[in-house]
Amino acid sequence: MAVYLVSVFLLLTQCQASPFDYPPPTNSSLAEALQIEVGEINNTSQQLLFSTPPPPGTIRRTPQTIIIGVRKGGTRALLEMLDIHPNIAVAATEVHFFDWDENYIKGIEWYRSLMPYSFENQITIEKTPGYFTSLQAPERIHSMNSSIKLLLILRDPTERVISDYTQVYYNRLENHKPVQPFEGIVIKNGALNTKYKAIQRSLYDVHMERWLKYFNLNQIHIVDGNTLIKTPLTELQKVERFLNLPPRIVSSNFYFNQTKGFFCIRSDGKERCLHESKGRPHPVVNETVLEQLYSYFREHNHRFYQMVNQSFDWH
Ligand SMILES: *[C@@H]1O[C@H](CO)[C@@H](O)[C@H](O)[C@H]1NC(C)=O
Ligand SMILES: *[C@@H]1O[C@H](CO)[C@@H](O)[C@H](O)[C@H]1NC(C)=O
Ligand SMILES: *[C@@H]1O[C@H](CO)[C@@H](O)[C@H](O)[C@H]1NC(C)=O
Ligand SMILES: *[C@@H]1O[C@H](CO)[C@@H](O)[C@H](O)[C@H]1NC(C)=O
Ligand SMILES: *[C@@H]1O[C@H](CO)[C@@H](O)[C@H](O)[C@H]1NC(C)=O
Ligand SMILES: *[C@@H]1O[C@H](CO)[C@@H](O)[C@H](O)[C@H]1NC(C)=O
Ligand SMILES: *[C@@H]1O[C@H](CO)[C@@H](O)[C@H](O)[C@H]1NC(C)=O
Repeated sequence: MAVYLVSVFLLLTQCQASPFDYPPPTNSSLAEALQIEVGEINNTSQQLLFSTPPPPGTIRRTPQTIIIGVRKGGTRALLEMLDIHPNIAVAATEVHFFDWDENYIKGIEWYRSLMPYSFENQITIEKTPGYFTSLQAPERIHSMNSSIKLLLILRDPTERVISDYTQVYYNRLENHKPVQPFEGIVIKNGALNTKYKAIQRSLYDVHMERWLKYFNLNQIHIVDGNTLIKTPLTELQKVERFLNLPPRIVSSNFYFNQTKGFFCIRSDGKERCLHESKGRPHPVVNETVLEQLYSYFREHNHRFYQMVNQSFDWH
């Protein structure tokens, strides 16, 4: 049995491009299939193991582009839409390599093992929205590749806070935990609770300042999340130009789903919409509280516009 296992391992390392590949956190990976089957390796399970070999000529590469955030900015939509492009290969999961110490210490080969197989003419992209607000991520990404191209998708900071709250609200409901109304969290003793994490994450100028210590502005392309949802094509064409890719994303790749209220993707003869948890209805927020948020972010937004030499029609 032991000898048999070893030979399967050898076969595995031969068929994957690198001896350093570690099992990725998806069930579809060969290596994890091996772990699941470890007790009983028979012909059926062996077929299972080798049923999805990587296409010949592909290897796993560290990303040349990373979508660094922001949480609730539309990172999933952006990644799914970029995946239409034949010269882009996207990572299946949020890797949290540069923002979580317990992952970062596993090393760059662990990181690479979580990337998709790609051809030489493809750009590998991974997205982890937590990078944008992480203290260590800019320096760590810079030390991997100082000329990397970064994508940052942002939306109105107040809207982002409400969306952040909404996600936590539904998670708590699903886990039968008590929930508080938005106003109860955002307002403490009559004043804006600026310590609230969701508000902190919307201080785009504060976070951007850290990135600009390590990267030139021309390495960071900012996608307008509000525009991406309304007219995806125009924003994606800007990304194609930023990444020096031939224009391959076209209007027929999108169709509007009335039920969902936003665009779904049609590509390679398949249609896909974002997961149910995306585009959930937001609570109706007290006008006075909304005004307090708008006015708190106003100064930060202006500072951000100057920093990036670009303005947005946020409140
Ligand atoms: C992966 O497989 C395990 C065991 O078969 C299962 O419990 C888990 O739900 C699966 N995860 C996903 C993401 O499919
Ligand atoms: C496994 O399959 C091969 C042919 O694919 C067959 O020759 C062999 O007898 C099978 N072994 C077992 C244990 O079923
Ligand atoms: C072979 O492995 C498959 C997959 O794990 C399992 O369903 C099947 O029962 C096994 N067959 C034998 C004869 O052990
Ligand atoms: C670093 O990123 C740039 C821009 O995407 C890319 O052209 C280059 O190949 C990358 N370098 C390495 C070593 O991956
Ligand atoms: C539109 O969205 C609804 C609700 O999520 C979904 O059930 C339906 O399959 C979608 N239709 C198309 C054509 O994508
Ligand atoms: C909104 O909140 C303010 C206090 O922050 C309160 O005075 C006002 O009555 C609230 N408005 C509504 C419509 O609930
Ligand atoms: C700022 O943006 C304008 C117009 O988009 C451009 O012409 C100018 O060169 C930019 N300045 C800097 C310092 O990047």
